[in-house]
Amino acid sequence: MPLKSIAAQSAELYLDLLKRSLTNTLFNIEPDAFEGSTPRYVEAAITHYQQGPAVSMLPLARLDNLQACVVDVVERRVPGDLVETGVWRGGAVIFMRALLRVLEVTDRLVWAADSFEGLPEPDPEKYPREHQAYKSAAMTKYYNHLAASLDDVKRNFAAYGMLDDQVRFLKGWFKDTLPDAPIGAIAVLRLDGDYYESTRDALTSLYDRVSPGGYVIVDDYGEDSWTYCRKAVDEFREARGITDPLIQVDKPCSYWRKSR
Ligand SMILES: C[S@@+](CC[C@H](N)C(=O)[O-])C[C@H]1O[C@@H](n2cnc3c(N)ncnc32)[C@H](O)[C@@H]1O
Repeated sequence: MPLKSIAAQSAELYLDLLKRSLTNTLFNIEPDAFEGSTPRYVEAAITHYQQGPAVSMLPLARLDNLQACVVDVVERRVPGDLVETGVWRGGAVIFMRALLRVLEVTDRLVWAADSFEGLPEPDPEKYPREHQAYKSAAMTKYYNHLAASLDDVKRNFAAYGMLDDQVRFLKGWFKDTLPDAPIGAIAVLRLDGDYYESTRDALTSLYDRVSPGGYVIVDDYGEDSWTYCRKAVDEFREARGITDPLIQVDKPCSYWRKSR
């Protein structure tokens, strides 16, 4: 087996440390996402992510998946930028920017799209489950609807040494910012807007910009108790005749590789 170069070993160590720092898992164990939305998980997640210093609420497995997708598109020269719709405190997009730095990629951008004022209120008639979750004590009292300001997110980027001109912010509701967003080709599209309309709006505006060979990651595809995200994805895939297999990362998160 060939020995790894010092540079490769250093990059691996840096990325591992970075993932654990971003997710507050240096000294703490991450809440078990397999528990789904049980009260015990919700309480653990609030303590660990919202009230803790986490900059991303992604479990490590999802950052590993993101890393694999980014490395793959760079290695296979799939053209395009890296995009996340729904960034909260910015951890996953900071990680994308760090990956480009490690891979010495200077011709791709990282796009961070968010209201930077939290989740939109879902229509109670159309999306009763989402509305109930939106109005829940956990969301209103503890999560503050996942609001993180643009200044806070920029500060987080700067703290990790990743705030530079390869990062672009799109502030506003997806339905307003994404249709005419000045994004060209996309190599990795990560959807993390939680709700039906947030997922649908991102897919409608951005899917056609994903290059063949690129990836679409859906953070909440398997979350059925409080969101209709899966329905938005299934409807979109059916309407567009997309048959590329959905691959599970963990119970909530799935992705597919766009074949054409
Ligand atoms: C679960 S958080 C994202 C977590 C993040 N990816 C991470 O690494 O921790 C969901 C984010 O989506 C944003 N969001 C959801 N729907 C949106 C919409 N329609 N327009 C703009 N932002 C939206 C919220 O403001 C929130 O920051």
